Amino acid sequence: MKKSLQMLSGIGLLLATAITSQAQSTRVSFDNDWQIQLDTANVYDPVKLAGQPWKTVQLPHDWSIEQPFDPYSPSGNGGAALRGGTAMYKKEFTVPASDKGKHLFIDFDGVYMNSTVWINGHELGTRPNGYISFQYELTPYLKFGAKNEIKVLVHNHQPNSRWYSGSGIYRNVWLEKKGNVYVDQYGTYITTPQVSARQATLNVQVKVKNTLNRTVPVEVKTVIFDDEKRVVKILTDQFSLKADQMLERSKETAIAAPKLWNLAFPHLYKAVTEIYLKGRKEDTYTTTFGIRSFHFDREKGFYLNGKSVKIIGVCMHHDLGALGTAVNYRAMERQLQILKDMGINGIRTSHNPPAPEWLELCDKMGFIVMDEAFDMWKWKKNVYDYHLYWDQWHHKDLVDQVLRDRNHPSVFMWSIGNEIPEQGGGDKDTLGRAITRELTAIVDSLDHHPTTSAMNDPRHDNNIAGTGALGLIGVNYHHQGWAKLPEEFPGQKFILTETVSSLQSRGEYLMPSDSIRRWSGFSKEKNGGTPEYTCSAYDNSSAPWGSTHEETLKPLLKYPYLSGMYIWTGFDYLGEPTPYPFPARSSYFGIVDLAGFPKDVYYLYQSLFTDKDVLHIFPHWNWQPGQKIDIWAYYNHADEVELLLNGKSLGTRKKTGDALHVQWDSIAYVPGTLKAISRKNGKVVKVTEVHTAGAAYKLIATADRSRIDADGHDLSFVKIQVVDQKGNLVPDADHLLHFTLNGDGEIAALDNGNETDLTPFSDKEARKAYNGLALAIVKAHTHKSKLTLTVTGEGLQPATVEIDVQ
Ligand code: GAL
Repeated sequence: MKKSLQMLSGIGLLLATAITSQAQSTRVSFDNDWQIQLDTANVYDPVKLAGQPWKTVQLPHDWSIEQPFDPYSPSGNGGAALRGGTAMYKKEFTVPASDKGKHLFIDFDGVYMNSTVWINGHELGTRPNGYISFQYELTPYLKFGAKNEIKVLVHNHQPNSRWYSGSGIYRNVWLEKKGNVYVDQYGTYITTPQVSARQATLNVQVKVKNTLNRTVPVEVKTVIFDDEKRVVKILTDQFSLKADQMLERSKETAIAAPKLWNLAFPHLYKAVTEIYLKGRKEDTYTTTFGIRSFHFDREKGFYLNGKSVKIIGVCMHHDLGALGTAVNYRAMERQLQILKDMGINGIRTSHNPPAPEWLELCDKMGFIVMDEAFDMWKWKKNVYDYHLYWDQWHHKDLVDQVLRDRNHPSVFMWSIGNEIPEQGGGDKDTLGRAITRELTAIVDSLDHHPTTSAMNDPRHDNNIAGTGALGLIGVNYHHQGWAKLPEEFPGQKFILTETVSSLQSRGEYLMPSDSIRRWSGFSKEKNGGTPEYTCSAYDNSSAPWGSTHEETLKPLLKYPYLSGMYIWTGFDYLGEPTPYPFPARSSYFGIVDLAGFPKDVYYLYQSLFTDKDVLHIFPHWNWQPGQKIDIWAYYNHADEVELLLNGKSLGTRKKTGDALHVQWDSIAYVPGTLKAISRKNGKVVKVTEVHTAGAAYKLIATADRSRIDADGHDLSFVKIQVVDQKGNLVPDADHLLHFTLNGDGEIAALDNGNETDLTPFSDKEARKAYNGLALAIVKAHTHKSKLTLTVTGEGLQPATVEIDVQ
């Protein structure tokens, strides 16, 4: 066995080279050389739009992020007070004469929203859903050996979203060329019905389309590569296809000693499918997949490859902070890295299908993804939202989402909807029941992963759960009721689709630290709020329907039948700044702020769900003399923590029972040093100090990557700190900072994580620090260059950082 595998590997290496050098079908980026006409008025006025000047843009492109914050924006501050409107995009391109006889397609990964596409004046179609990927065939309308023009009209009529949607062709666009017989769009389905350490059964389905007007003999070859590019299997199939016929064929095989996809080592396989017609290659189609087994147990929760795993996931909206929604691979990768380092192992793509690259990253980095379809069905949440298009489009959109995403090893469950208004009531024959049955049937007909729905009225007889059609009961919030879930839903399996909704601003602390604030709307009389519109970064605030992090974690960890949870949210996002009105314009829910800087509670998760030694104490140590301050510590790998102020012990504390932190209350402030020491069996594990910062003295700039690729997309995220003479962060520094970049590159955006900062993101030269920090996002151009970023601020020694673009 071993020998024959080795032989096969030898052939495989040769074959792999052959495949790449011969490829006749191609899929190339179609993001360059676009132009835009833009009108940010809410109502579409074709004459006005046609009168706007054409400007050059690079896709992916979000025009809303370039706008000033506008209290009168029809999106409201729920939509980040940024305007939508209408745009016409156009691009000219030449199709070589040699392409005649091929099939050409344009693929849009996502356009927000309501796009209509024309090629050479011929209308290809309209797609209302702003999050779905779609494709049009261009072939019949193309001029070969000549110039062609594609136009895309986009209309983001607000309000249509409860969060910042972004506007435009904000995801990638691709041009595909294929032969006459090819793998249909999303035409492969790879499953592993049996998996063990010894062997995995692999089922490969391929849907092949014949576009010729005659019967043809077809040969399909699928080569399976492991993650070291070694061939592990070759599957071949021969059959004939009639004129214009499409056929799905499936093959089963076994893979010995499979490298399993898991959270720490997410091994990926590739299936390269080639279609031959009389020896001539017509198409090459690559599918990435993973080999893993999983199940949800009624009593014990989620199992991956036979091992119990608690899902500690986060919900994420699709914006990338200051970059808006324009897809950027590195910006997404950074978000996921920050979350992974905190101990997060799951992502919910709330409340819509994500960019394809987001799932690619989740595959590569090891996350358990809940892939969500809708935030509403037929009943609206907003005047112009998707309910307008529900009847005509929901079937197609859901089918396309499942077909696109079902091979991703990171995708483990489908959510058919978030907090769907139709869930209410308990009648037998309601719309909600009919839609639930229809959607679950669509998903179940296409894929074997379980369905769920994020229910905020989690009763056994609500219109969604009451159908009995869900694979998993999805519960939003209601942590006081989790103990009773098995009673409410006998025999069912559970996932906490959404939890927490705690409210925090990085570096802001409201005392007493253990009096909990439930905030939804802002009312000065009722619950105070702060004049600066901040929330407290002690874990002591949440929306009334939510809970603090600790209130949530305690029952989650107690009941094994809870498979896990998806916290609202991993990062702050643009829009929905509960509990404050304008000028608040981005959310307070994140564990990480909009700029990517962790709030204190980040270290609670790190202490619980990573192997790192954690000892995090907060708040900062710059207060008014005599002021009474509560000090908290998150720690792990130790029995106890001792806290000293200027060398004098304030006592030793241990977590007892289900406590998740320790605290020292009402410590009278004197400037100096707070020193925490964690010990295990009397031995020091970790020491953490917080110093009173003196006057702001200088800036420190640190790049997350000092070498980036000259590909026109890569980013370096530069953290700016305002520090005193000794290098201590000045915790309330809010200096206006100025940024300049030398070299062939650009500042893509600036941020500081402040939810109320109205400096437009189009300002790439100046931004205030917020609680001592700011962020500059530096982008590579397509030439090698040495970039120097300089940051200055009045009265501060400047900082520079060098970035090598290779
Ligand atoms: C949930 C909802 C989320 C978000 C969150 C804020 O009810 O599903 O989209 O609005 O509340 O707390």
